[in-house]
Amino acid sequence: MPAIAEPYRIKMVEPITMTTREQREAAIRAAGYNTFLLRSDDVYIDLLTDSGTSAMSDRQWSAMMMGDEAYAGARSFDHLVESVRENYGFPLVCPTHQGRGAEHLISKILITPGQHVPGNMYFTTTRVHQELAGGTFHDVIIDEAHDPASRHPFKGNVDLDKFQALIDEVGADQIAYINVAVTVNMAGGQPVSMANIRAVREICDRYGIILWSDATRLAENAWFIQEREDGYAGRPVAEIVREMLSHFDGITMSGKKDCLVNIGGFLAMRDEAILTKARELVVVYEGMPTYGGLAGRDLDAMAVGLREALDDDYLTHRIGQVRYLGERLQAAGVPIVEPIGGHAVFIDAAAFLDHLSQDELPAQTLAAEIFLDSGVRSMERGIVSAGRDADGNNRYPKLELVRLTIPRRVYTNSHMDVVADSVIRVFQRRREIQGLTFVYESPTLRFFTSRFEPL
Ligand code: F0G
Repeated sequence: MPAIAEPYRIKMVEPITMTTREQREAAIRAAGYNTFLLRSDDVYIDLLTDSGTSAMSDRQWSAMMMGDEAYAGARSFDHLVESVRENYGFPLVCPTHQGRGAEHLISKILITPGQHVPGNMYFTTTRVHQELAGGTFHDVIIDEAHDPASRHPFKGNVDLDKFQALIDEVGADQIAYINVAVTVNMAGGQPVSMANIRAVREICDRYGIILWSDATRLAENAWFIQEREDGYAGRPVAEIVREMLSHFDGITMSGKKDCLVNIGGFLAMRDEAILTKARELVVVYEGMPTYGGLAGRDLDAMAVGLREALDDDYLTHRIGQVRYLGERLQAAGVPIVEPIGGHAVFIDAAAFLDHLSQDELPAQTLAAEIFLDSGVRSMERGIVSAGRDADGNNRYPKLELVRLTIPRRVYTNSHMDVVADSVIRVFQRRREIQGLTFVYESPTLRFFTSRFEPL
């Protein structure tokens, strides 16, 4: 790829702190070796997440000034609905405070306790809400997704045979819906092809199964379709997004990613009956159906951001920046998930620290080591994130990863160079690194708040 500069210029800056090794040692100890528990002031380059960390545009900030803060019937809601209709093609919208608010509502609406919910790999909050609603999650992603070295171009695809086998086993009427995430976060930000979405739609039509999407990173998914799938080269991402979404009955959206906002989410759908139920629940858990837990200004920022995120030049730079970091690591022999995904570079911590067993928490350990080296904050996505099963046993995921997640429109490639240099330094002295063990394990979504100490 030729060098691609940012398709924007910087209008406002936020100073960040540089720290000494001693300060970082104190900070990670105080945080119980969990990067989620670090204070942001102790972090130099923050690659914890791409969620809610985007820089908004001058247009979004302007729209915020025009937000309508009426309790009911605010015009900011109308702006969001118009933008979702125009860009995503769904006529009906129910805002929520963020993605998991939408997951909570849709799980309660569609799942009858005892039912099954297939999906292309789990996501932490998605699966928790499905389980809290009485559902059982089934992973129906293709096997390649669980292999960090497989170079399949659409590693997020649903395995149609696995989906069919589940239908044969439990019966279509016991499947609440199938949830297809675009892209698949836990697999490394991997896309789903249009052909696969179409094929899943056919099966759903045959059996009368609802096809839902976790559309959190839909713009990045569409960019990969444009890059890799026959017939889509040269077609605008905005057009590909509309075609992708035309196959789904509805979506849950975390606006904190591909709507380029710091907070917000929504459900969007075609079926009035689902909207009616969503409105019944949203007033209990989030707020009035026209604001769903957000300020009017947040709805306006999201209405503008979701359009901006479909811009081809923006996406080429965004995914190009992720790739730039990944390729620097690859060139130094650091094991990463391939192909490089849309929102993050995922280091294969099991291969990086192959002298540690999974019980010695390689990914948790590596995230702490990278912070100690340079103040770069990353996130564990391995055995700690996977949690325990219904019987209380640790789940042992095949992927034991550290995620270097790139916020949208925030850092430059000079920052990416600092990150790459740090990871490479840690890689060169990897044999000296010892594992971690739990000192406090929180009962749900344990990766957020658990504490650890060195073995
Ligand atoms: N679905 C996916 C695929 C996600 O990545 C996230 C959040 C959610 C749903 C939930 O959305 O945070 O707005 O409630 N992912 C963040 C991350 C937290 O860091 O990957 P939310």
